[in-house]
Amino acid sequence: MTRWNETKSRALIEETQARGGALTSALRALTDTFGYIDPAAIPPLMQIFSRSRAEVLGVISYYDDFRDTPPGNHVVRLCQAESCQAVGARELTELVCAATGLKLGETSKDGKLTLEAVYCLGLCANGPAAQVDGKPLAELDENKLDAKLAALQI
Ligand code: FES
Repeated sequence: MTRWNETKSRALIEETQARGGALTSALRALTDTFGYIDPAAIPPLMQIFSRSRAEVLGVISYYDDFRDTPPGNHVVRLCQAESCQAVGARELTELVCAATGLKLGETSKDGKLTLEAVYCLGLCANGPAAQVDGKPLAELDENKLDAKLAALQI
């Protein structure tokens, strides 16, 4: 990830709009580049896409993939949707939360790990499912997830 900076942020927003991209495309570009959408990017998003602050913030808060704070070095997203719940996602989530000391939606104080909920990764037939640093993991159990977390050295 690139460290957030205003000039690069504005350039990404302008490039997206010039290509005919929508507000969500600009938010995706900012997220892909910086890992989050810095609050200082809101005014240029409003100006360039002719949207109100409420509209921009509403889109950011609506989609799970957008965040307004920097993520940890590693991001673990645990599926909480129905199919994964039916095969133990809640219990697995409780174990991960206990092991890391984090609740879903939190980042560790040392900035190494962010734990998040996600609602379906398209791996419903192979749950419980998760995503670790963007890579999908299926058929999780405690041992498999422990090994993955250990490999991240968190
Ligand atoms: S319900 Fe978990 S991947 Fe679809």
